[in-house]
Amino acid sequence: MTVKLNWLITGPGAISGLLAAGLLRQQQQVAWLSRHTQEETSVNWTLTENGKATRFVTPLYPDAPPPDAVILAVKSYDLAAALERLDELQIATDCPIIISHNGMLSVHSERPLFPLITTHAASRENHTISHNGYGESWLAAQAINQPQPLAGAIGEILQQSFPPLHLVHDIEHRRWHKLLINCVINPLTAIYRVANGELAAARFSDIKQQLIEEFVQVAAACGYSFDAHQASQAVAKVITATAANRSSMLVDVEHQRTTEIDAMNGFIVEQARQHQIDVPTHRAVTEAVTALR
Ligand code: PAF
Repeated sequence: MTVKLNWLITGPGAISGLLAAGLLRQQQQVAWLSRHTQEETSVNWTLTENGKATRFVTPLYPDAPPPDAVILAVKSYDLAAALERLDELQIATDCPIIISHNGMLSVHSERPLFPLITTHAASRENHTISHNGYGESWLAAQAINQPQPLAGAIGEILQQSFPPLHLVHDIEHRRWHKLLINCVINPLTAIYRVANGELAAARFSDIKQQLIEEFVQVAAACGYSFDAHQASQAVAKVITATAANRSSMLVDVEHQRTTEIDAMNGFIVEQARQHQIDVPTHRAVTEAVTALR
């Protein structure tokens, strides 16, 4: 029998909602951490998957027991603030923190951090979530910032709640792999205002190829080996699997919110600078997306 744990989740996007729904299906206790102080004591959600809508409710923290695990599925630039919030709420410092964000950033925390990478595509409007594309997920089997393994029950419950989910020891390579996908899909969909599936059109072939080739060079200089042909196939696979989805960066641009370009193509531009590699296409899309705001 699966143990019942107390989970605390936060995040402005759809992935946090998908995780909450999945955990509730496994009879877990799920509380929501709101960014705003509000009168309500719970959140009512609607999730649409395969054309079927289901409803669920999450109590708002702190009207819930102290968590056994926290999930921060936040924008890369909000992670530091989300971690500070856990300090303010006096969440136990040894409580495992699962972090799910796009892009790359260096984060300093005393708390054990376990990155979760996912290629699921979903969208969210307030508390209504649509699961638009089925992908897979990878969760670090050990903390990235201290020698702490992920408790077995936490990994097992997440595997049941959010399948398919792989527990891995080389999460860094997975992070680069997801970065590759984001560095192609996100800026192009945001600049050209198209859904992910449109990027399969011939007019995007050259720019996708240039982004991929520059990425492969920079990744190699940073110690991560990618084959350009396989990288291109991996990008194409996600474009097809998430065809109907509007990327998180396109949605950010449409809502005039800060984008994660600095943690994606901006990160590649910075790594390229350090390794003296020319990445004109990543530089151009970084500048183009930055100018969109
Ligand atoms: O950022 C996003 O939108 C997602 O990571 C992905 C996988 C590109 C699907 O839209």
